[in-house]
Amino acid sequence: MDKKPYVIVLGNEKGGTGKSTTAMHLVTALLRLGYQVGTVDIDARQGTLSRYIDNRRHYTETNKVNLPLPQHYRLTRSAEDSTKTAQEQDKATFEKIYQELGDKDFIVIDTPGHDLYLSRLAHSYADTLITPLNDSFVDLDVLVHLKHDSMEMEKPSIYADWVWEQKKHRAMRDRGSIDWIVLRNRLSSIHANNKQKMEGVLNKMSKRLAFRMVPGFSERVIFKELFMQGLTLLDLTDIGRPLKLSHVAARQELRDLMNAINLPPLQKKVAEAFK
Ligand SMILES: Nc1ncnc2c1ncn2[C@@H]1O[C@H](COP(=O)(O)OP(=O)(O)O)[C@@H](O)[C@H]1O
Ligand SMILES: [Mg+2]
Repeated sequence: MDKKPYVIVLGNEKGGTGKSTTAMHLVTALLRLGYQVGTVDIDARQGTLSRYIDNRRHYTETNKVNLPLPQHYRLTRSAEDSTKTAQEQDKATFEKIYQELGDKDFIVIDTPGHDLYLSRLAHSYADTLITPLNDSFVDLDVLVHLKHDSMEMEKPSIYADWVWEQKKHRAMRDRGSIDWIVLRNRLSSIHANNKQKMEGVLNKMSKRLAFRMVPGFSERVIFKELFMQGLTLLDLTDIGRPLKLSHVAARQELRDLMNAINLPPLQKKVAEAFK
């Protein structure tokens, strides 16, 4: 069968922007749509996605509820001293996991917030790369360096440069392309002015750096609460928790994200359902 899993990578070079949270929500949404999903955590140091999934497993066992879980791999970096040997080993480990997840519809990969050979390698496998960005000008640095006295772009960031590199690697390996998406996270209604300014700058950059913007998540406490139990916004009904207005709004944001991502296998599934 000539079927390759669709790979979604969560990445940017900063920590704490919502990569693992977004990964877990995407994974749950895909599982609930009936897809086979594999997950890879190459955030070896923090391992947030792995902990999220462990918490979820624990919750299902102790509360005897059936919540969908992905087939998960935790990838730890080679301990070899020589960079060359370490990279060869890392590549082999990554490719082995990729093969083992070969029968899945989707592979979702969470990457750490710093430069790492494995992280770069994973980026080069992405069909869709999602970069969550906190809604502040400090976080814009992940994408671009702005001139000191204006909102003009001085040069792309190191991260933007290496996404460009990985796009080339991807094209060389299988002539595939990476759809790069920037997702604004923790949007606040208080700083409407800042939000608008960010929007203007990001729109300009999206053309220069070849990414597209999708609607993001508002700042909501519920995200922090859910992590401890390994739950997502899509599990609340199953565990008998009444949906508050803010939960409904947050679920809508997730739905908008899913629609905006425009994942090819999803389109196929929708088409099949309407045949
Ligand atoms: N939209 C949001 N509203 C409130 N808290 C959020 C939101 N998104 C993420 N967080 C919280 O921010 C912290 C960092 O998120 P995380 O997904 O671990 O980021 P990363 O993987 O990029 O390091 C976590 O405590 C998470 O619960
Ligand atoms: Mg993380």
